Amino acid sequence: MTIEARYAAAEAAAYGDFVRRFPAYATTTAVDELRAADYARLDRLGHTYLDYTGGGLYAESQLRRHHELLAGRVLGNPHSLSPTSLASSELAKEAREAVRRFFHAPEDEFAIVFTPNASGALKLVGEAYPFVPGGVFLLSYDNHNSVNGIREFACRKGAAATYIPVREEDLRLDEEQVRTALRGAGRGGEAGAPAKLFAYPAQSNFSGAQHPLDWVAEAHDLGWDVLLDCAAYAPTNRLDAAAIGADFIPISFYKLFGYPTGSGCLIARREALARLQRPWFAGGTITLASVQQEDWYHLAPGATGFEDGTIDYLGLPAVTIGIEHLEAVGIDVVHARVHALACWLLEELAALRHSDGKPLVKVFGPRDGERRGATIALYLLDREGRPYDVYDVEAAAARERISVRSGCFCNPGDGEVAHHISRDDMERCFTDPSAAITLLQCQRSIEDKTGNVPNTIRVSLGLASDFADVRRFLVFAESYRDRPAPVPQSG
Ligand SMILES: Cc1ncc(COP(=O)(O)O)c(C=O)c1O
Repeated sequence: MTIEARYAAAEAAAYGDFVRRFPAYATTTAVDELRAADYARLDRLGHTYLDYTGGGLYAESQLRRHHELLAGRVLGNPHSLSPTSLASSELAKEAREAVRRFFHAPEDEFAIVFTPNASGALKLVGEAYPFVPGGVFLLSYDNHNSVNGIREFACRKGAAATYIPVREEDLRLDEEQVRTALRGAGRGGEAGAPAKLFAYPAQSNFSGAQHPLDWVAEAHDLGWDVLLDCAAYAPTNRLDAAAIGADFIPISFYKLFGYPTGSGCLIARREALARLQRPWFAGGTITLASVQQEDWYHLAPGATGFEDGTIDYLGLPAVTIGIEHLEAVGIDVVHARVHALACWLLEELAALRHSDGKPLVKVFGPRDGERRGATIALYLLDREGRPYDVYDVEAAAARERISVRSGCFCNPGDGEVAHHISRDDMERCFTDPSAAITLLQCQRSIEDKTGNVPNTIRVSLGLASDFADVRRFLVFAESYRDRPAPVPQSG
C-alpha cells in the first residue's frame, strides 16, 4: 500500500467513525454535492475556511444569478415612477418579502428595515430608543461591541446601563440572575414609566453559547423591550421572529450567505419601532419637509422612516438570491450538519493530550453540543498549561491555508471572564497617564500582571463546512503535541 493509499484509508476510517458517532451528518450529504459544485474554489485553492462567524461564504451560483439579473435589466434609483425606478422598487420589495418569509416576520406585525449591516441596525435602535433618567439598559456580558456601544446613547440620556455577568465555567448566563435583574428594575411598561431595554445575543459570537429565547416573553411580561442579537445565531439556526416576539433583531446578510457584504436588516416589531424617536431625518425617510420652519417635517411610517438615503437597490436583489439559496439548502440541514461537526470537534479536541497526559486544548464556553452553536473559542496549551501565542497559532494555521480567527472578536465580556481579567486589571488600559496605551501594550500589561493571555482562537463552522475541514483543524492542533514552551507574545 502506498503512503497516499494508507493516508486515504486512515481518513476514510476517521470519517466512518465520525458518521457512526454523529449519524445526523449523513442526512446532509446534499451539501457535499453543493460544495463540490458551488464552492469548488475552496478545494481548488486548498482552503480550510473556519471563520464563518466572521463571514459566511457565497455560492458561485449566487454571483452568476446576481450578475445576470443586473446585466439583463436597467435599474434606476427607487423613489420615483419611471420604469427603471419602479423596477428597482419592485426588486427591493421582493427582497423584503424574502426576508419576511425566511425569518417568519409577518407584515402586520414586523417591519424589515434595510441597513448596511447588523451594527447599522443596532445603531438605529440605540440612537432612537427613548432612554430617559430612571430608565435602564440591561445587557448580558457576552454582547458584541455593537450592542455594548448602545450604552453610550443610554448613559448620555441619563438611563442606567447594567450588565449581567456570564459564568466563568461555561460562559453562560445564570437563569436566576437574569430573572432577578429583569425583576429588579421595577415593573415598568405602564404609561409614562421610563422605558427599559434588555439586550442579549441568541448566540455568543465568542463562545457559541446559546441563551433561552423564552426570556423574551418573560422580559415583555415585566415591561421590557427586548433586543435579541441574532447576527451570530441566524446563519446556522432557524429563526422564527413571530414565535420569539423580540422587539428588535439585527442581522448581517454576509454572515448568512456571504454576499453581498454591505447589507443587513433590523427586524422590528411595528409597535416597538413606532416608539423610537429618530434623532434626525434624511432623504428617503420623510413624506414631507419644509425649509421654512425648522420643525416642519413628517417622518415616513414604518421601515421607510429608518432607511436613510438611497437603499442599496442593486445589492438587494442579491439578498433575495442569497435567501433563496439558503432556502434551497435548508437551514435545518445546515444546522444539523454544523452541529454534528462541532460536537465531533469538541470531543476530539478534549481528547488531545501531550505525551505526559496533559491536555493540549482548552475550550472556553460550553464543552459539549448542548445549547450551543458551531463557534468554538479555544487555546492550544503547552505541557505546563500555558497557551501558545494565539497570533503565532493563527499564523501557523495560515501557512496551511487554514483560516481561523484570533483576538477578542469584539466581545470583551466573554474574553474578560474567560481569561480572569478583573476590573483592576483593565483599569490601567483606561487610566494610563500617557493616554497612548496601544492595544498590544494593554494586552502585554494584562499578561504581565495576571499571567493570563487576553486573546483567544476561534474556529467557526457554516453552510459549506465539511468533515475534512474539521479534521484538518484537529490534525493541525495535534501537531502542537509536545512542542516546547511558547514564546511570549510580542508587543
Ligand atoms: C453577535 C454579533 N452581533 C453583531 C455583529 C456586528 O455585525 P457587523 O459587523 O456585520 O455589523 C457581529 C459581528 O461579528 C456579531 O457576531
